[in-house]
Amino acid sequence: MKVSISEVNKYVGQEVTIGAWLDNKRSSGKIAFLQLRDGTGFIQGVMVKSEVDESIFQKAKSLSQETSLFVTGVIQEDSRSSFGYELLVSDIEIIHEASNYPITPKNHGTEFLMDHRHLWLRSRRQHAVMKIRNEIIRATYEFFNSHGFVKIDPPILTGSAPEGTTELFHTKYFDEDAFLSQSGQLYMEAAAMALGKVFSFGPTFRAEKSKTRRHLIEFWMIEPEMAFYNFEDSLKVQEEYVAFIVQSVLKNCSLELERLGRDTTKLEKVVAPFPRITYDDAIEFLHEQGFDDIQWGDDFGAPHETAIADHFDQPVFITKYPTKIKPFYMQPDPANDELVLCADMIAPEGYGEIIGGSERIHDFELMKKRMEEHQLPLEAYEWYLDISRYGSVPHSGFGLGLERTVAWIAGVEHVRETIPFPRLLNRLYP
Ligand code: 4AD
Ligand code: MG
Repeated sequence: MKVSISEVNKYVGQEVTIGAWLDNKRSSGKIAFLQLRDGTGFIQGVMVKSEVDESIFQKAKSLSQETSLFVTGVIQEDSRSSFGYELLVSDIEIIHEASNYPITPKNHGTEFLMDHRHLWLRSRRQHAVMKIRNEIIRATYEFFNSHGFVKIDPPILTGSAPEGTTELFHTKYFDEDAFLSQSGQLYMEAAAMALGKVFSFGPTFRAEKSKTRRHLIEFWMIEPEMAFYNFEDSLKVQEEYVAFIVQSVLKNCSLELERLGRDTTKLEKVVAPFPRITYDDAIEFLHEQGFDDIQWGDDFGAPHETAIADHFDQPVFITKYPTKIKPFYMQPDPANDELVLCADMIAPEGYGEIIGGSERIHDFELMKKRMEEHQLPLEAYEWYLDISRYGSVPHSGFGLGLERTVAWIAGVEHVRETIPFPRLLNRLYP
């Protein structure tokens, strides 16, 4: 019977055939250990020389890395491995012999691995990261679907620029100029007026000249938007959502977290509510910590965010930033109109900002004024102004960056490992 590795627990004591690739092997005179992977998982195949034909044993010993094969044998429980099962191999049939596979078990440099990303994805480590990414995606849909949100897909080709015009990818749209979406937010605001609570999940593009462990040129964002929700209501959704995805990964990806050597005690502490600190207090805190390089009115850099995050062992909200360093659409703080009702969520352990969000301006005159101050071409935004023109209501939303969230939860240093084919500054291959 042909089975996949993820389902061998149902076949203990039975003979099965697994279509697999050889990940690695080790053999002595009497026994061969074949590390097998089939995409759904990893299992060790054990072949005992005295129990098979000599020719089969020799075939097993000569297998090269990444050769594809059908392996037949009996599934056994194996309490020594964390997977819990192994395959007592009786026969192998080679499908395709791979020779000189470039990624060997020795250490390779980052550039080499990035040039071979299409193959690097086959490794145990990358497999674990992709499984965790997938679990976060699954849990995201579960969370928003079970909280009454409707999934809405904003366009990718657009004429608007919610997050400022300096980092846009330009393209031609027949005779018009267009951009690749840097955020679906403005469309999600329109959709929230039609469907109440909505979320999007799609690719976004930023022509950022940043070469850091937190920046991708193309990344995926989850953008919920909620009519009648104020700033506080939105923070509650954010902390419940993030706690939910962390707990889902802990529950459903324990093998992967173990394979990555992730310290899960820190993740176990991630439960709502999350601590909060205002921008003003954060500046004061940084000064107390000896950061003389930052003044009120500056945006935080990575070292500042890390210092703030290290002070808490949960994700932390930094709230109420100065109006002048945030986008045009944020609602002023009624207590101080130099500030806006926004929050960034900073992940623990130095992974930086994973969420940016705010209450949105819903007053038509104020919105128009802000757009003029930001020198936005009003004709391109007429449709957006209709949101505050017709039955305007308070509303709030946020965007969570998927790759930074995967990096944090999986405990992976750089976002390049958290997306299958990363687009980075100066890297479009493979
Ligand atoms: O803070 P940002 O720019 O917020 C927005 O785009 C809002 N319009 C979202 C909204 O309210 N609907 O981006 C949101 C998140 C960041 O917190 C970060 O996690 C991620 O997107 N992000 C990036 N991730 C990887 N590479 C980059 N270059 C990123 N830029 C932002
Ligand atoms: Mg931001």
